[in-house]
Amino acid sequence: MNSSFHLTLAALCCVVVVLGGFPFSSNAQLDPNFYKDTCPNVTSIVQSILANVSQTDPRILASFIRLHFHDCFVQGCDASLLLNDSDTIVSEQGALPNRNSIRGLDIVNQIKAAIELACPSVVSCADILALGANVSSVLALGPDWEVPLGRRDSFNANQSLANSSLPGPRFLLDELKTSFLNQGLDTTDLVALSGAHTIGRGVCLLFNDRMYNFNNTGVPDPTLNTTLLQSLQAICPDIGVLGTNLTNLDVSTPDTFDSNYYSNLQAGNGLFQSDQELFSTPGADTIAIVNSFSSNQTLFFEAFKASMIKMGNIGVLTGTQGEVRTHCNFVNTVSLATKVTKDSSEDGIVSSF
Ligand code: HEM
Ligand SMILES: *[C@@H]1O[C@H](CO)[C@@H](O)[C@H](O)[C@H]1NC(C)=O
Ligand SMILES: *[C@@H]1O[C@H](CO)[C@@H](O)[C@H](O)[C@H]1NC(C)=O
Ligand SMILES: *[C@@H]1O[C@H](CO)[C@@H](O)[C@H](O)[C@H]1NC(C)=O
Ligand SMILES: *[C@@H]1O[C@H](CO)[C@@H](O)[C@H](O)[C@H]1NC(C)=O
Ligand SMILES: *[C@@H]1O[C@H](CO)[C@@H](O)[C@H](O)[C@H]1NC(C)=O
Ligand SMILES: *[C@@H]1O[C@H](CO)[C@@H](O)[C@H](O)[C@H]1NC(C)=O
Ligand SMILES: *[C@@H]1O[C@H](CO)[C@@H](O)[C@H](O)[C@H]1NC(C)=O
Ligand SMILES: *[C@@H]1O[C@H](CO)[C@@H](O)[C@H](O)[C@H]1NC(C)=O
Ligand SMILES: *[C@@H]1O[C@H](CO)[C@@H](O)[C@H](O)[C@H]1NC(C)=O
Ligand SMILES: *[C@@H]1O[C@H](CO)[C@@H](O)[C@H](O)[C@H]1NC(C)=O
Repeated sequence: MNSSFHLTLAALCCVVVVLGGFPFSSNAQLDPNFYKDTCPNVTSIVQSILANVSQTDPRILASFIRLHFHDCFVQGCDASLLLNDSDTIVSEQGALPNRNSIRGLDIVNQIKAAIELACPSVVSCADILALGANVSSVLALGPDWEVPLGRRDSFNANQSLANSSLPGPRFLLDELKTSFLNQGLDTTDLVALSGAHTIGRGVCLLFNDRMYNFNNTGVPDPTLNTTLLQSLQAICPDIGVLGTNLTNLDVSTPDTFDSNYYSNLQAGNGLFQSDQELFSTPGADTIAIVNSFSSNQTLFFEAFKASMIKMGNIGVLTGTQGEVRTHCNFVNTVSLATKVTKDSSEDGIVSSF
């Protein structure tokens, strides 16, 4: 083979890599040791606050894992979720999947304040959500993973994208798969990440149809375990959208991060239709994955870690993109002149590495 052939091949490879990796290509720059010198104590700050809060509010661990998910699925893991309404921002917190539903924003701010004291303007809010998910999993007795770090925070948010990108509890399997594929996540990621529903709570109005009038049939969802149906009906009377009582996502071990989510599905004990679909859709390729995670918790934990890292890489801002917010709810207010100077000095630092 001559060298021009090699060159052509190399050029082709480049094109394939660039195109194939397009929306998810910036993740190579994340690094678990990103704050080793600039904020070595960052994990222990996150850990100590979440450990403290979870003593009186065990649900906070679930709420934190969900925050990272709801951040990453909307224009990437850039803390766009945390931006409040302002003159220029329509907050994602007002999107249908988030309003009256996401929790823990005050604790994120508490963690951010503690980190700013230890290492000012160094740790991004997007990284706090990624670290918070790891720490929360561990505190709920689930797996830990080496969290790639170095994300930067967005200048903007997108509420309509939050409305359209986040999957809903009545999604069918095909819709769930499409929602995840749109983020570069495959069927194994879907099943593994849904396992986060091994902890946390949900409100009745999100599954009341499964108990009282499934798919306009006038009867309950036939895949819903009849024992669970009875106990749910006691907590969730037939009041439709007014059903704001809370129930556990995992009927067996509600606050422990384990593989019982999958054994629940095998017994018809998934809470949302989107959960039960993974096991009860006839002929689905997800059934075998559910069975394998149910029978081997180590396998589930390994898959969950890998999928969390993959999710945490979606659309990240790195280097001089975005900024490190000083308050997670607001973009930094710096004058244009200061900002230009700051950006060019950062360019200098980055290129001198
Ligand atoms: C597969 C598609 C998914 C759907 C349709 C879905 C839907 C939901 C819904 C409707 C709730 C209850 C919200 C409420 O009642 O206020 C919920 C809670 C939760 N979700 Fe998901 N979710 C999905 C995937 C995920 C993923 C990928 C994660 C994280 C890796 C996750 C983590 C959680 C957690 C931990 C909770 C409990 C939150 C709390 O108690 O505060 N979910 N999810
Ligand atoms: C790191 O943070 C933890 C928890 O906030 C604290 O107990 C510890 O003293 C800190 N260590 C250093 C070196 O700052
Ligand atoms: C722990 O939480 C309590 C409230 O639940 C709070 O008063 C206390 O300051 C917290 N301690 C730390 C170290 O965060
Ligand atoms: C941001 O908005 C939330 C409501 O979504 C509110 O609870 C919080 O106090 C706001 N943050 C600030 C700093 O005002
Ligand atoms: C993940 O959390 C565990 C438990 O808090 C911690 O030991 C580990 O260092 C964390 N990983 C990172 C990268 O912070
Ligand atoms: C998002 O959905 C909610 C609820 O349906 C709606 O009120 C809101 O206007 C939507 N936001 C955008 C920007 O489309
Ligand atoms: C927000 O998301 C919508 C899709 O829902 C997209 O069409 C629009 O370009 C996005 N806006 C910005 C500013 O990124
Ligand atoms: C609901 O019923 C329609 C037909 O009436 C059917 O095509 C669809 O698959 C059903 N959906 C579910 C989730 O069973
Ligand atoms: C909440 O649950 C209780 C039973 O635990 C029930 O009596 C009450 O009607 C429920 N309220 C709503 C709003 O669903
Ligand atoms: C319903 O769930 C219970 C556990 O809550 C289980 O023992 C039973 O076998 C389940 N029923 C079916 C038909 O799977
Ligand atoms: C469970 O999965 C782990 C991780 O893949 C594997 O090493 C182990 O052999 C499996 N255990 C059994 C009993 O199959």
